Amino acid sequence: MRTQVGIIGAGPSGLMLAQLLRQVGIESVIIEQRSRPYIENRIRAGVLEYEVAQLLRQSGVGARMDKIGLPHGGTSLLFGGEMHRIDFRDLTGKEVMVYSQHEVVRDLVAARVESGAPLLFECSDVAVEGFASGDAKIHFVHDGRAETLHCDFIAGCDGFHGVCRPSMPDGHLTFFDRVYPFSWLGILADAPPSAEELIYANHENGFALLSMRSPTVSRLYIQCDADEDLAEWPDHRIWEELDTRLQHPGFHLNTGKITQKGITPMRSFVTEPMQCGALFLVGDAAHIVPPTGAKGLNSAMADAVALSRALELHYAHKNHDGLENYSKHCLRRIWKVQRFSWWMTTMLHRSGEDGFSHRLQLAELDYVASSRTARKSLAENYVGLPL
Ligand code: APR
Ligand code: PHB
Repeated sequence: MRTQVGIIGAGPSGLMLAQLLRQVGIESVIIEQRSRPYIENRIRAGVLEYEVAQLLRQSGVGARMDKIGLPHGGTSLLFGGEMHRIDFRDLTGKEVMVYSQHEVVRDLVAARVESGAPLLFECSDVAVEGFASGDAKIHFVHDGRAETLHCDFIAGCDGFHGVCRPSMPDGHLTFFDRVYPFSWLGILADAPPSAEELIYANHENGFALLSMRSPTVSRLYIQCDADEDLAEWPDHRIWEELDTRLQHPGFHLNTGKITQKGITPMRSFVTEPMQCGALFLVGDAAHIVPPTGAKGLNSAMADAVALSRALELHYAHKNHDGLENYSKHCLRRIWKVQRFSWWMTTMLHRSGEDGFSHRLQLAELDYVASSRTARKSLAENYVGLPL
């Protein structure tokens, strides 16, 4: 088997990359370890930046998003019992789109399957080889048969726990990371959202986030300990804590059946560089952010766009600058996104900080609430930096 670009992983980054490449006539094969139902039902992120929503439309996969997605023109910060709205439309002229990551995955898988281009599910023993010596190949087992896919390039879109990053030669990569001393306990519930837009709350008991997936499904999170045991959190305790942390005048928390419960660790992580020879890391394989600010999915999409443009330049114009500068280009954006996600996380969580740090946090919140310039900066980052 031979292809131009071998893509490992059918998450948002791998699928988007394949879609963008197909639009400019570049062939690819996607190799995914899980089944189609598994990836199409995996509950993950849910907020698309303005340009990411545009990207889905331009790539011909925006129709369902425009039908069932929820455009949001702002969000609110809640602290000291008061709500402070950040008006994205007024501050930036843009909005974000609340649309589940697994719906994005479904749309991209459907487009891929319809195109007839190869997307192989349930592949095992995936390994990459030869990418540093001009003979890039992917070994894997599919339908019980051992296969080798020869590629011009390999895109490692295989997430944080994938095989591509660990396959880079010893000493080639430097890692930068920060682990936060808390996690998020998240639920999905059959309850109409209790507010029209997202609410990010800093309460003395800890952070809480009100989000949603549809007019009948709420997505809610509370800050918990890093090593929290889910068994300690029966449903009634979760609802009580959400009610306490989100309380403000006129607010009523809608409750309902909890259909999913999980703990999300909070971590910032960046790999430098994001490439070695013909192997390029894309999305979570190269970097992760804490979820405050909803940047994980969007950053994965930004890398996919960067790599597709670089590959187009290579194949259509024999210009290798884009590929050579891929890491540099992506890292410039991701470090700004890391800064924003770290800043939102630090501003909104409680971690038993000393009195000085806590007062700085309150001053930060007060500054955002009282300064249009500060709100504009938050809004500009939230709706998304240019792709
Ligand atoms: N071989 C083949 N596929 C693999 C392998 C492997 N060895 N390891 C992982 N995969 C697949 C996973 O099953 C998954 O479908 O790679 C895909 C990686 O997808 P994501 O983890 O969704 O990563 P990415 O596409 O970069 O999207 C990032 O996902 O985790 C969220 O918050 C994150 O929203 C962000 C987005
Ligand atoms: C979500 O809906 O899952 C979500 C929304 C906003 C965030 C993080 C997660 O900042």
